[in-house]
Amino acid sequence: MSTSRRVFDLRLTTFNICKSYNGESVLRDCSFAFDKSGTYVLMGPNGSGKSTFLRICALLEEPDEGEITYFSGADVLKKDIELRRRTTLLLPRVGAFNTTVFKNVAYGLRVRGIKGPEIEERVDEALEFVGLIHKRNQKAPVLSSGETQRLGIARAMVIEPEIFFLDEPTASVDQKNTEIIEDIILKMKERGRSIVVITTHDISQANRLADWLLLLKDGRVIHS
Ligand SMILES: Nc1ncnc2c1ncn2[C@@H]1O[C@H](COP(=O)(O)OP(=O)(O)OP(=O)(O)O)[C@@H](O)[C@H]1O
Ligand SMILES: [Mg+2]
Repeated sequence: MSTSRRVFDLRLTTFNICKSYNGESVLRDCSFAFDKSGTYVLMGPNGSGKSTFLRICALLEEPDEGEITYFSGADVLKKDIELRRRTTLLLPRVGAFNTTVFKNVAYGLRVRGIKGPEIEERVDEALEFVGLIHKRNQKAPVLSSGETQRLGIARAMVIEPEIFFLDEPTASVDQKNTEIIEDIILKMKERGRSIVVITTHDISQANRLADWLLLLKDGRVIHS
């Protein structure tokens, strides 16, 4: 482990978030605090606003009203690039860059200025973690969809996000890969350093993974 790694203490609070599309309200005065490391599972019907909520929390989209506050200890952090790099959103269907599995995962470290042996060590650790180390030198576009989803998780994990949003991580994968991905999420929980926020439609998956089960109902996130 490199000594340069961060202390994981990021917390996230939303205050009265409102979001509408074409005059239709999706989120209404949505306030929620993600203040413990562990796994939050967000459920709710199609179109209830789960993906919208995740995009807003991950600072990829602005709310119409309300506030997102990230804080680290006593410090409120600005929504700058550095903060964005401490969180990651994994979309339901991950794409891969047209290069090797290794380079796909290394990319996020290179853009963060990490070099040489530390890249090798961290990429191999992430590939090991998601069970893709044996595919290390293969071209990524030939991976199966389940493997590509695991590659996406490795790409996200390698940068050690303190808050990791996964939007329906098993929506397009088979049973075997679903189990592998759930195991990865459970292993992340064992590490105990990040807040993991997952959306799913699978209630048994929610029960397997959740420390806290949340529901998106009437435009708000509530404890289930
Ligand atoms: N960029 C957008 N432009 C217009 N409408 C949008 C946009 N993003 C989301 N919506 C609308 O907002 C509502 C909530 O969508 P969202 O994708 O957040 O729901 P969801 O809970 O993730 O649904 P699902 O379970 O199907 O993934 C939907 O009615 C959707 O059509
Ligand atoms: Mg969605």
